[in-house]
Amino acid sequence: MKKTVLSGIRPTGDLHLGNYFGALKNFVRMQDDYDCYFFIADYHSLTTHPTPDHLRFNTRRVLANYLAAGLDPKKCTLYIQSDVPQVTELYLFLNMNAYLGELERVTSFKDKVRLQPQNINAGLLTYPTLMAADILLHNADFVPVGKDQEQHLEMARTYAKRFNTLYKTTFFKEPQAFNFGENLVKIPGLDGNGKMGKSEGVSNAIFLGEASDSIRKKVMRAVTDSGPTSPNQEQPEVIKNLFQLLSVVSTPDTVAHFNEAYNNCTIRYGDLKKQLAEDMIAFTEPFRQRISDLLADEHALDTVAAEGAEKARASAQKTIDAVRSLIGF
Ligand code: TYM
Repeated sequence: MKKTVLSGIRPTGDLHLGNYFGALKNFVRMQDDYDCYFFIADYHSLTTHPTPDHLRFNTRRVLANYLAAGLDPKKCTLYIQSDVPQVTELYLFLNMNAYLGELERVTSFKDKVRLQPQNINAGLLTYPTLMAADILLHNADFVPVGKDQEQHLEMARTYAKRFNTLYKTTFFKEPQAFNFGENLVKIPGLDGNGKMGKSEGVSNAIFLGEASDSIRKKVMRAVTDSGPTSPNQEQPEVIKNLFQLLSVVSTPDTVAHFNEAYNNCTIRYGDLKKQLAEDMIAFTEPFRQRISDLLADEHALDTVAAEGAEKARASAQKTIDAVRSLIGF
């Protein structure tokens, strides 16, 4: 029997290289060998109050990004979260055993409290229970995600165990984060600190559907330092970040060339950035064209979403029926 895989991405527009290398690349690699559920987490995005037009637009874009990256609806179940309302029922059940103290200690919640003090809603607080409900809804074994989701996965395991203990069952599996045996990935942004992400600022991220000129401009503005002053000196964080970006889009020879230049103090960051920009453009080029072709065919996108929804609802309903019966309904 194939193991079950599930993962999702919030609809914030085109996906960026962080989403791709942290998650989407693995979705594509897993679809042949696992029973895969990949979805667009549109309920989750309501925590930031998008307008209906924005929500619709961004959800379609993520669907087009998924398909452009190589997800095949014949091999995996591809769906939009809000098309499978069973998840909200499981979210309610899990919330009954989610405690205020543990939710308040979640790093992503504390970050949001700092970043958007004017909008600390209950959905934000219980974001990890909705995410656990997504995962447990299909009783997933593995969840391909980037490093920033590690704590959320830990909570999904906590809620699975808690439910099993409370109802004296072994029904829920304990889902594991997954990256083919490697550490989970964190792709840095261009601003010299933290991770690539849209909420960290659009100039910090490079998107799969982004135009070449825009990529060049952003990369040339990436933060650096004044350069190495002695041979083989340790790279500061901002420079490590640029090298990490180079290592995901450039050839090993290119990375080795700039590493050597850094180590013998002849590096010119302008040259490194030019190369990085061109390699990012070459990497994203095929996505750009495919995304725009896919977005042009509304009907085909709707069909993919409708067929995925049907498969996902069937799997979800089985879980809900079992859970309701365990609870005593
Ligand atoms: P989201 O939408 O912020 O990101 C989607 C996926 O992309 C990964 N990611 C990164 N990986 C490496 N480096 C980066 N800079 C980077 N930025 C983003 C994230 O780790 C994630 O895997 N809560 C989730 C969405 C979600 C979900 C789920 C995921 C909802 N329910 C159930 C898995 C299972 C989120 O906000 O990811």
